[in-house]
Amino acid sequence: MSSSVYSRYRAAFAQGLATALGVPASEIEAQIKPAEPAHGDLSFATFPLAKAQKKAPPAIAAGLAQSLSVPGLEIKAVGPYVNARFAPLPFTAEVIDAARSAGLAYGGDADAGRGKTVAIDYSSPNIAKPIGFHHIRTTFLGHCIANIYRALGWKVEGINYLGDWGKQFGLVAVGFQEYGDPARIDDMAHLVEVYVRANKRAEAEPEFDEKAREFFRRMEAGDAEALKLWNQFRETSIKGFKQIYARMGIEFEHIEGESRYQGKMDAVIEQIAKKPGVKESQGALIVDLPYADNEPPILLKKNDGSTLYATRDLAAAQDRYERFHFDKSLYVVAQDQALHFRQVFRTLNEMGQPWADRVVHVAFGRIHGMSTRKGQVVQLSEVLDEAKERASAKVKENIEAGRIHTGDADQLSEQIGLGAIAFGDLKHKRASDYTFDWDEVLSFEGHTGPYLQYAHARTVSVLRKGGGAPASYDAALLTLPEEQALLREIMRLPEVVTDAAEQYEPSLVARLLLDVAAAFSRYFTAGNQDREKRILVEDNDALRAARLALTDATRVTLAAGLTLLGIPTPDNM
Ligand code: ARG
Repeated sequence: MSSSVYSRYRAAFAQGLATALGVPASEIEAQIKPAEPAHGDLSFATFPLAKAQKKAPPAIAAGLAQSLSVPGLEIKAVGPYVNARFAPLPFTAEVIDAARSAGLAYGGDADAGRGKTVAIDYSSPNIAKPIGFHHIRTTFLGHCIANIYRALGWKVEGINYLGDWGKQFGLVAVGFQEYGDPARIDDMAHLVEVYVRANKRAEAEPEFDEKAREFFRRMEAGDAEALKLWNQFRETSIKGFKQIYARMGIEFEHIEGESRYQGKMDAVIEQIAKKPGVKESQGALIVDLPYADNEPPILLKKNDGSTLYATRDLAAAQDRYERFHFDKSLYVVAQDQALHFRQVFRTLNEMGQPWADRVVHVAFGRIHGMSTRKGQVVQLSEVLDEAKERASAKVKENIEAGRIHTGDADQLSEQIGLGAIAFGDLKHKRASDYTFDWDEVLSFEGHTGPYLQYAHARTVSVLRKGGGAPASYDAALLTLPEEQALLREIMRLPEVVTDAAEQYEPSLVARLLLDVAAAFSRYFTAGNQDREKRILVEDNDALRAARLALTDATRVTLAAGLTLLGIPTPDNM
């Protein structure tokens, strides 16, 4: 069983208190909170005991502190609190060794999710349609959530559920037949152009719109010619998407789409008809449920007989359960679709699916102000291209100034560009909207990806200058307040990763990494002011080795955390 340093101390403290109080440790554990940093690491408030013990809380705290002895913890009463501080030893060595021995797996726990499966629907762009802000966020968030669950030992079934069915294909097809360039049927950008133009036309010309609907009806009826054209569009799009995913280091377990459920619609509708029931409404078929005022009904079939997004999601949810027997099934999709998922989940529930409580809409807010030089319609590939281009200007500048030494400026620019966009997104709480700003995300200072990549590269460079990370070192020498503070940030990664998984909140990991980098920076700068505090302190091999071991633990923490976020960690920058 792997357990984190922090959880072991918390459990030991709880056990000590529980024994002293004669209650189960599980009762105490939930009441142990982080202490005010000035007063220790863990804190237990005695207020709730006052009534039963008929004593004032400070007296209870004093009594407990006196009688308690827990190895590795320095315990004392502060007012009504019993506080515990991690004794420098063995704590220092435990944190450093936990990080270094785990390496890139630090923060994870292969046992936590053993035997459990999570399905994660993410990215899920619409083929032959422009990628929107929501696809950018779902791609970063979903990738990170998948990484986190994998690190926690879950079996992850990442699903890219392409929007590859629906009237929009009618639009692309009819547009393509009229003004598309047959020689460019394998060019994703061309298909998007055709779509954008066709979409405008459909709004202005009802006949054009009707043609598009007719084309989609042919697809649903299994018309071979219509399906052939659709399939070509689909292949082109998938080829284009795959390039982007390769750039981002994303691999899906499954790339499928709404079209998978073509031909299975009637079976689902029949099932829903049994329970909770279906009924006709204005020529359309809807789920028979009581609806709130103003709530649009759950549409299963339109009046022209074509099926809908909700119908396909209902089929897909069941299909996923049958294939994966998931313990959780996540949908990383924009908040804009909250009503859709509430309705789909409610239907599953009303159908009596025993797993209906395992599905979760992991919703996120909007990105404002994202546009590229090429224009307002944002394509993920263009965002990555522009990020790389802008990063490249900075990389060149830094190479010329002698601040960066790298053999491969092109690759470094790509890595920094990706890091900037990914971190710029993931540092925000997923539920909140944010305003995108090129200069802000690409800055080498502040709360950015490049800053963290730089902090990581700095640990690598210190280690290199110091002759590498030592195999053995004396943890007792790490007594500086900057060192003890840094250890406490490094220690937090496992807890933060667990919280991030429970809350589907990558920003928790992002923010911890900023704290680690800041603590390392304070340590590093302290050495600029005071030679005795330098990591590569002169004339003291033992001290230097201990400081290099801590630097190595910092490197591991930053590398492991950035990797969870899907951000590359170049050694040189
Ligand atoms: N293709 C949809 C869109 O772009 C997102 C699909 C999300 N997943 C799902 N199972 N509905 O809006």
